[in-house]
Amino acid sequence: MDVQDFNFVREMVRSRSAIVLEDEKNYLVESRLQPLARREGFVGIAELVTKLRSNGFSPLHGKVVEAMTTNETSFYRDVQPFEALRKVILPELISKRTATRQLRIWCAASSTGQEPYSLAMLLKEHFAELANWDVKILATDLSTQVLEKARSGCFNQIEINRGLPAPLLLKYFDRQGPTWQIKESIRQMIDFRPLNLIESWPAMSTMDIVLIRNVLIYFDVQTKKTILGKIRKLMRPDGVLFLGGAESTVNLDDAFGRTEVERTSVYRLR
Ligand SMILES: C[S@@+](CC[C@H](N)C(=O)[O-])C[C@H]1O[C@@H](n2cnc3c(N)ncnc32)[C@H](O)[C@@H]1O
Repeated sequence: MDVQDFNFVREMVRSRSAIVLEDEKNYLVESRLQPLARREGFVGIAELVTKLRSNGFSPLHGKVVEAMTTNETSFYRDVQPFEALRKVILPELISKRTATRQLRIWCAASSTGQEPYSLAMLLKEHFAELANWDVKILATDLSTQVLEKARSGCFNQIEINRGLPAPLLLKYFDRQGPTWQIKESIRQMIDFRPLNLIESWPAMSTMDIVLIRNVLIYFDVQTKKTILGKIRKLMRPDGVLFLGGAESTVNLDDAFGRTEVERTSVYRLR
């Protein structure tokens, strides 16, 4: 891919999503944009980029940004955060919220939905007492494509095999030909909505639990700081934040303190 075209694309992607594409990501950009260019009726990437340069932000620019997101995810990813939620964090929060009987959970950058669905199944499986509580799980992502898939609740066998225990598959999914669809009772627990973390956020409830896992890793330091600062303002004073295994608030936001729970790091406001 031509260096100038690469630089144009990476600057556009950075300004629209905060995703940083280093010099050596030329091959990645090329491999993601080649099929998109063809699908959109262009001869190749050069022609696609010429079109992008010719006008302001358009749906085509949005498709290019989405093509550059990494949507890697799985059910019960990393296991330990879900163990921490099941054994410690949720029991603690539930006992503190018995007066209001309200819980608000936000799964930011939720990709194709495995993370919020894992959470919803965990609540159904282990916290029957929440049945008559006001519990809301908000799941957001920049990409409309992944949100569409998440809302459908349909997963192929490979996605199912990645982390979903067989008893949960049998209990919470219906077979639909080659795919499995998660039951309506679980789907209705989650509100999937578009949200770009670097744009202004809509009014949201104060959160008891925020999961923003495996997305800050793609951003520069200032963007991480800004996003953590906004999350901090959105969290209840005793709320809990989960980040990805390679992420941390250390040197980014001192208002958060890190503790180990069930061999995973959780972050609380100091
Ligand atoms: C690697 S996935 C993480 C999925 C899930 N949280 C997990 O840990 O398994 C990263 C997600 O972040 C989303 N993303 C990237 N930049 C974003 C932004 N600026 N605002 C919101 N979501 C973004 C991508 O679309 C992608 O679905």
